[in-house]
Amino acid sequence: MSAKIFSGIRPSGRLHLGNYLGAIKNWIALQNNAEQAIYAVVDLHGITTPYDPKTYPQQVTDAVLDFLAAGINPEKSLLIRQSHVPQHAELAWLFSTITPTSWIDRLPTYKEQLAKSPKYNHAGLRDYPILMAADILLYKSNLVPVGEDQLAHIDLTNEIAKKFNGMFGQTFEPVKAHLTEGARVMSLQDPTKKMSKTGDEGIALSDDPDAIRAKIKKAVTDSGKEVKYDEANKPAISNLLTIYSLLGNTSIADVEHMYQGKSYVDFKNDLAEVVVEFLKPFQQRRAAFERDAGAVEAILNKSEEKARMLAQAVLSEVQQKMGV
Ligand code: AMP
Ligand code: TRP
Repeated sequence: MSAKIFSGIRPSGRLHLGNYLGAIKNWIALQNNAEQAIYAVVDLHGITTPYDPKTYPQQVTDAVLDFLAAGINPEKSLLIRQSHVPQHAELAWLFSTITPTSWIDRLPTYKEQLAKSPKYNHAGLRDYPILMAADILLYKSNLVPVGEDQLAHIDLTNEIAKKFNGMFGQTFEPVKAHLTEGARVMSLQDPTKKMSKTGDEGIALSDDPDAIRAKIKKAVTDSGKEVKYDEANKPAISNLLTIYSLLGNTSIADVEHMYQGKSYVDFKNDLAEVVVEFLKPFQQRRAAFERDAGAVEAILNKSEEKARMLAQAVLSEVQQKMGV
């Protein structure tokens, strides 16, 4: 099967090491052998939860810069802002007319979001997964790299596709989730939680060296003093070992060996430098793109123009089959 890849990320803040090691690194590897690869900053999804319209455009730009610096290659992939390809919203509307509301109401993601911000109980939040199905099917994509939490949305995408095919004739092929086998990177403040975009818990890919050193210095450690991997009894040190190993390209066993007889402080000081060194080339690329806003805009415009063409072909087929 030749892969047609689509994935999206909400512009909800700066990307962190967890996003990179757990997801983006793998998505970017996929672009090399794909027939089609489209990566989207899904800004229409991002406004279904609380956000600030004043800072939102900058968040979109930050996500674009992070993606480019992480290695999205505009020669191989399209990098788009979802709202710049209006066919996404249009297909979502058409799909919403064939999607039973009961399919959405049973989704755990919808229930969780609602619990987080009960005042944001509007139709857009409920329709979020229909827009996601439209994102994917608009390009007849068949491979979608996502985290585990998104599997229910991929199932729904396939149910919508099947129902459409049944009602209007064979149009969409099954979509497969590509579960990224990346690492799970945990919070530096609470190693039982995933690293997230808030506070000191995560290291943003764009954090400067002093911020990185300060965050790692403040990272919680476990009782005892041995630098040893033991997820059950030493979750904090195990998380730091994972980060060291992945970014320093050294096995965990080798890192343990290097720090035999040394203190947590020695280990953390060196880890900070490993992270700083790893992020340096990323940050240099990011800064170069940031200085060249014109080139970034040109990449987006070219991608979005191509995407609108691909999208319109599928949207026209759907409209014609639906009789609109
Ligand atoms: P989010 O930041 O929740 O929008 O997630 C974007 C992508 O990064 C998803 O594919 C997540 O599974 C992945 N991701 C987010 N946080 C982590 C983490 N701490 N460790 C590994 N992967 C993560
Ligand atoms: N819902 C996804 C998330 O929260 C983001 C997303 C929107 C997406 N549209 C998509 C992911 C299409 C993959 C394909 O992570």
